[in-house]
Amino acid sequence: MRLDQFLSARTMYSRRELRQMIQKGKATVDGAVVRKADQHVQPDENTVCLNGRHIPGDQYLYVLLHKPKGYVSSADEPGQKSVLELVPPELCRKDLRPVGRLDKDSTGMLLLTDDGQLAHQVIAARSHVAKYYHIVLARPWEDGYAEKMAEGMVLADGAQCLPAKAAPVEGTDREALICLHEGKYHQVRRMFAAAGNHVAELARIAMGGLEMPQDLEISTCCVLSEKDVQKMLNCETNFASLLQTLKKHSS
Ligand code: URA
Repeated sequence: MRLDQFLSARTMYSRRELRQMIQKGKATVDGAVVRKADQHVQPDENTVCLNGRHIPGDQYLYVLLHKPKGYVSSADEPGQKSVLELVPPELCRKDLRPVGRLDKDSTGMLLLTDDGQLAHQVIAARSHVAKYYHIVLARPWEDGYAEKMAEGMVLADGAQCLPAKAAPVEGTDREALICLHEGKYHQVRRMFAAAGNHVAELARIAMGGLEMPQDLEISTCCVLSEKDVQKMLNCETNFASLLQTLKKHSS
């Protein structure tokens, strides 16, 4: 496959833009600058970089974004900033889309991929990919919340939720961890509203067996390996251990 073809299928740049970038020495193959757009590359053998960023040769791309507040999870909502704007152009493939949603005011782990089948698997309720949210409540945590969530909350519109695990964070009176196996619209916010509280802050901190990488700064993203994706799909994060990491120590 030609170098410009390889890059065109894996980035948002046009073939014309890519040819210019290649001529200017912005592309490397196995560490060496290549200035010829028709240089032959093998996606599964060569390491191709553009502007110093590795462009994975794999058929599908899995990007994990540390979503900040103020961005919507859809690709095209008029007048809104999309999370896709935070993906560097070198990683932004044509069919890359967020998998599921985090509200505009929520932060944390958001998966983006061009693998439609995997996206469906992560969202589908029957796939049971657990999502873990660290929340800050407007009013103190109350005894009885955990039991209510475990029974399956009924939301204000009558929607029945699946049983969910929730617990307060030790050393705080308003922070909690909640794990869901489904993703109804504004679900965590609506569950706590139905319990008589209000979610002031919400961050997704783990999906399946994959926790938010500690060094992934807000508004930045990283490419997930096949192993990470499998961990997300086929494993669970230990709720008690995750809760322990959130614990606040009084000084
Ligand atoms: N539940 C919510 O209410 N908001 C989110 O962003 C995610 C889960």
